[in-house]
Amino acid sequence: MIEESVIRTVIERTDIVRLIGEYVQLKRRGGRLIGLCPFHREKTPSFSVNAERGAFYCFGCHEGGSAVDFLMKLENLSFPEAIERLAERLGIEVVHTNGYAAEKRVTAKSRERSYLDAMKTAQDYFVSSFYLDIGSECRSYAAKRGITDAMVKSFELGYSPESWDGIVECLRKHGQSLEDSRELGLVASRDSGGFYARFRNRLMFPVHNVKGEIIAFGGRILDKSETAKYINSPESPIYTKGEHLYGLYQAKMHITREHCAILVEGNVDVVMMHAFGFCHTVASMGTALTPKQAALLYRHTKRVYLMYDGDNAGRKAMYRALGILLEPGFEGLYAVELPKDDDPDSYLRTYGAEGMSQLIENAKPLGMWCVQKKCTDIMALPPELRKSGFGELSELLHEFPDKLAQRHYLSEAARFLGQDERRLAVELGMNIQTEGAVSKVPAEQNIECNQYDKIEWDVVHLVLTSDKRFESFMELQGIELIQEPALRALLLEYAEVLDKSNSWDILNSLGENSRKLYEKVICSAPDVPEDELDKWYSGALAGLTRKWAAREHQQLGFSIAEAVKRNDMQSAAALIEKDRRFIEMMQQSSKERQYCWQHEG
Ligand code: GTP
Ligand code: MN
Repeated sequence: MIEESVIRTVIERTDIVRLIGEYVQLKRRGGRLIGLCPFHREKTPSFSVNAERGAFYCFGCHEGGSAVDFLMKLENLSFPEAIERLAERLGIEVVHTNGYAAEKRVTAKSRERSYLDAMKTAQDYFVSSFYLDIGSECRSYAAKRGITDAMVKSFELGYSPESWDGIVECLRKHGQSLEDSRELGLVASRDSGGFYARFRNRLMFPVHNVKGEIIAFGGRILDKSETAKYINSPESPIYTKGEHLYGLYQAKMHITREHCAILVEGNVDVVMMHAFGFCHTVASMGTALTPKQAALLYRHTKRVYLMYDGDNAGRKAMYRALGILLEPGFEGLYAVELPKDDDPDSYLRTYGAEGMSQLIENAKPLGMWCVQKKCTDIMALPPELRKSGFGELSELLHEFPDKLAQRHYLSEAARFLGQDERRLAVELGMNIQTEGAVSKVPAEQNIECNQYDKIEWDVVHLVLTSDKRFESFMELQGIELIQEPALRALLLEYAEVLDKSNSWDILNSLGENSRKLYEKVICSAPDVPEDELDKWYSGALAGLTRKWAAREHQQLGFSIAEAVKRNDMQSAAALIEKDRRFIEMMQQSSKERQYCWQHEG
């Protein structure tokens, strides 16, 4: 908790015009200060700042508030974070109400400061080296890659010279702790004692946190040599891998304005995207996208375009990113598909900004894209080699957090693969049951009834959809024919409710479980032509009767055997007589069933 008096001072002393002026070019127009709104895209200024009232307002998108609100919205900060940032600008020491915690914070803060200082020293060294003679090869490499001077400036790119001890000297000269520098991965220690430069002869990409402080580096080789293409900073007290996004500091304003972000793989891709005007682009920095990175992105926007390299690795990374991006609950996730041999950088160089815009416009919803791609991959293989593909498809479908989405994409996949949906669900080991939702899927696509006996299910459907059938069914003691306990329970409850309620109120009178089952049964009609329904129903009833008689017959068989064992011949004879009726019934219903179902076996 920050002390109340500090908050008041910070708010009083903050000059809103200067603060906003750092982000927006403000012009005086009459009595007002106006500029282009940073919160939405516009060509004519509708954003204005009122210095007297210490407030801003946009007539276009209606964002407005105080200096603190401005900083919170633009930098996605919490209130205390924004106050701290403003206090820092004013040189005011932030006093926390909790003394002990505050003290600990201060020491942690000053430790952090000194690490950041060391990074800054290294950064200055890399940047000045870039412009020296020793940097000429690096400069021409950047130029060859199409990285303009403006981009070098904006991304603060640098060059780490060939020298093994240049940076060591530089850090020492600036009074930086070499032990800290080792922790930061700027230098490494020699077995013989002393330190040497970790980054040598590389184009340096500093990684900023959202505040703009440098917390890590990525260094790319200038040629195609044997060593690793990139050397990245290790984890350190100020840098945890997978918690940052490359380019976010440069992109965040644009992300706010565009209401979306583009996510790519490579540092170079980010730089080139910005160079071509796609300034709302960030990268996940070598690692596969992490949940922390997804959450970080979510703080800035609710819509993300995923554009990974067109090769197999890139595609796989997109499938993997799907599940991670689904987690925070983005409103829009899209896949931008690059040609097989392209990455964003190469695509821009061939097709320019125009072509890139086109590509982004053609983006598909990410979920759908992943499923279709996976299915296409599967179909490209001969059937005997598709097994692992199906495994991957199953994994993909399980990425969707809710059953409804899983179901939707399952049916898309089935359509794409030309397969029966229920069979596919079984093959993929998916247990798809909707909870509460009314199933709108036609009978042959209905997965729910899969776990039930199909004939029982359809008979119950017909019984529940006609009062006449229901009545005669109950008279016949039809419930005895149904083996599935859930269906029996439903029929019993339905009969009870029917006696008491109006027909329109039946759904509400049923218990929770029965109501759900009722909805499902009602929604799946048997796969029989309308004019053959009655005949089919008679056949089905005969079939169930035959099964029931067979069960009774079997049961009696046991009882007869027991009676014989007991030498109770009288009972045995009575049971045998009874059994004859069941045998007759079996034969009779068998014939009936055949008569009704000539078309079936
Ligand atoms: P170019 O090949 O020059 O276009 O580089 P790029 O930045 O586009 O990199 P690429 O798409 O090949 O890789 C994506 C990201 O993965 C890079 O930006 C690096 O952060 C990371 N990366 C690539 N290669 C390596 C490597 O050899 N080691 C490490 N640690 N990271 C790497
Ligand atoms: Mn690349």
